[in-house]
Amino acid sequence: MSVLRSVVTGVGGYLPENVVTNDDLAKIVDTDDAWIRERTGIRQRHRAGDDQAVSDLAVEAAKRALAAAGRTAADIDLIIVATTTADLTFPATAAIVQRKLGCPVGIAFDVQAVCSGFVYGLTVADGFVARGHSKCALVIGAETMTRLMDWTDRGTCVLFGDGAGAVVLEPGEGQGTTDDRGLLGFALRCDGTKQDLLFVDGGPSTTGTVGKLRMLGNQVFKHAVINISEAVVAAAKQAGVAVSDVDWFIPHQANERILTGVANRLGIDEAKVIQTVDHHANTSAASIPLALAEGVADGRIKKGDLLLLEAMGGGLTWGACVIRL
Ligand code: UT7
Repeated sequence: MSVLRSVVTGVGGYLPENVVTNDDLAKIVDTDDAWIRERTGIRQRHRAGDDQAVSDLAVEAAKRALAAAGRTAADIDLIIVATTTADLTFPATAAIVQRKLGCPVGIAFDVQAVCSGFVYGLTVADGFVARGHSKCALVIGAETMTRLMDWTDRGTCVLFGDGAGAVVLEPGEGQGTTDDRGLLGFALRCDGTKQDLLFVDGGPSTTGTVGKLRMLGNQVFKHAVINISEAVVAAAKQAGVAVSDVDWFIPHQANERILTGVANRLGIDEAKVIQTVDHHANTSAASIPLALAEGVADGRIKKGDLLLLEAMGGGLTWGACVIRL
């Protein structure tokens, strides 16, 4: 049976030039390199320049993804930006990206699911691409998380960084089997009762300010390891594959201990885990496409490989999706 699938035809990542090491942070809060490495696996993070907005990071990642797909801005009819650090309260960052890239009039909007935003965004895009409403879509995860930091809170400010990653999605004919290229299955979750574990204490309709990120890290940690596994199994089931069939596990890069904790719980060989958190820290919605782009660029991830993506973030939101590249 012939079916339309949303196929990833290009990926790209961008990290701003400015690198902030653990030692740099030890100069402003009571922390040290050893603690950060042991508890999180993070060595450094990137910080956007004062003249860079999140849309600028998104545009750089999008250009790289377009080049990898052999497409140009003129081909794009849908842009979804997953971000929690928009340029402005409105318009959507996706609309700004459309203008900066020079894409024609089309569909453009943002998805707000914090660190799960890229997984949410992919599944939303699938609703357009796999139904024939988009011929060429950009799904971008882009964040300037350093702008939400309370630089006196050592429990959060050492964990986050800035960056962007993007994929081009195009419709492709499949046979309705697990050999098809494209998005094969997903599971999304949100538990709004857990808001207080991870949130930003400001916003346009409450304080009128941007606010700062607040997190009860160890509680988020426990929730992540336990609940992500359930969503992964559900996504694999919907795709019709076993978790053990997966070639590459590409988790949201929050903390190395969470990545390996989830992999171990699911029985995934650590050699199949793409780990990039060490050099860019938690870039929220950008972290999965950044890790994907790195795995593709260094030749580990190849066309036809079966990929398992998962994330968890503020909301709390979490989710997973299975893609054959
Ligand atoms: O993107 C999704 C959202 N975020 C996450 O997934 C993050 C989830 N959580 C985590 O990654 C971890 O919980 C953390 C890395 C945030 C913390 O690790 P932990 O092993 O859960 O440590 P903890 O919060 O239980 O704190 C242990 C100790 C505390 O000191 P006391 O009370 O034992 O004296 C903290 O005050 O570590 C202290 N601490 C620090 N020490 C040095 C907290 N942050 C730091 C720091 N440097 N930066």
